[in-house]
Amino acid sequence: MSAFDFEHVPERRGTDSQKWQKYAGRDVLPLWVADMDFKSAPAIIEALHQRVEHGIFGYARPVKSTVDAVVHALEQRYGWKIDPAWIVWLPGLVVGLNVTAQAFAEPGDEVLTLAPVYPPFMSAPKHSARVSVTVPWILERAAGGDRWSIDWDALERAVTPRTRLFYLCNPHNPLARVWRRDELARLAEFCLRHNLVLCSDEIHCDLILEPSLPHVPTALLAPEIAARTVTLMAPSKTYNVPGLGTSIAIIPDSMRRARFLRATAGIVAEVTCLGFTACEAAYRDCEPWRQALLTHLRGNRDYLLEAIARELPGVRVEAPVEATYLLWMNVSALGLDHPAAHFEAHGVGLSDGAMFGAAKGSHVRLNFGCPRSTLVEAVRRLRRALGRG
Ligand SMILES: Cc1ncc(COP(=O)(O)O)c(C=O)c1O
Repeated sequence: MSAFDFEHVPERRGTDSQKWQKYAGRDVLPLWVADMDFKSAPAIIEALHQRVEHGIFGYARPVKSTVDAVVHALEQRYGWKIDPAWIVWLPGLVVGLNVTAQAFAEPGDEVLTLAPVYPPFMSAPKHSARVSVTVPWILERAAGGDRWSIDWDALERAVTPRTRLFYLCNPHNPLARVWRRDELARLAEFCLRHNLVLCSDEIHCDLILEPSLPHVPTALLAPEIAARTVTLMAPSKTYNVPGLGTSIAIIPDSMRRARFLRATAGIVAEVTCLGFTACEAAYRDCEPWRQALLTHLRGNRDYLLEAIARELPGVRVEAPVEATYLLWMNVSALGLDHPAAHFEAHGVGLSDGAMFGAAKGSHVRLNFGCPRSTLVEAVRRLRRALGRG
């Protein structure tokens, strides 16, 4: 029995929640955008209370204890010793993706990534007239079950004289996949050989569901990889504080860090005092909560995998769900042009796979960061959407 409650959650209808406002006034369970329906960790809420009590909310800078909390967590969890000077504070990771494109590529230059992928990986380059180039993941048949893998030949073929950057999602959204060290090393070697800057989005790294799979920070592979890597991290997904807008870029190379900072100048907003407060408490005081959350999420994942196999013919989860609270489902057997719209009409709000670069009608993504009871109701509605009462 967990000391934390992930089943009884506050009502979010009628609040400022983007996730719930999308279906305001309609009976649709929102299982789309990646925030969770749980209260944040008690230690974060307590730290915020204390900070609010202070009553002055001026422009903020991180204090030493905040930086120490980040540095210590990275060393404890991943054996990654970072120099505090490498950290650039940002109001969000999507900001980081956009800034990286502007800092390390010129208009018309190309940014490579593997699709399907979190949509801003493809839109960020385009926002500043850079070009997004995607290489499709392939589903590989393996003895222990299918797994997503990289088409290395296609990746090599995709490189042109204008390729400058590689965007990596580590762990991967929406495939819920943890990178193995050997794959990361091969990818890093690829970036080195083609002289690409590697932008490693590790926002989901504290949400690994398979205890046997370690998260490997890309920059930890080798000093020459660290020197060309921009790592993006945040407490936002894990501790459910995305609305507080606090993230970091870790850029070991001072020249690249200076370039990155120049691209932020005058445009990127400061992190707020409440964001710093939540960040410090998250990384320092919330490990028991995080472990309890992971237990709950594993249970949700296992419940869904079983329910899908048993009750939802035509819906297929193609590979293990190793990380995140996002479930990528193949629904192509249903023959729907707009599967998310179909499920929405039956009361379940999912993300359409086409937004992530998947073939139209092939996939949807479900956010299982919610009470189990929500998922039980969602499965009931999905059954109905498949004409199974
Ligand atoms: C891989 C990835 N990067 C970035 C983000 C969003 O980051 P932010 O809200 O800090 O811009 C998400 C949100 O789902 C994500 O999945």
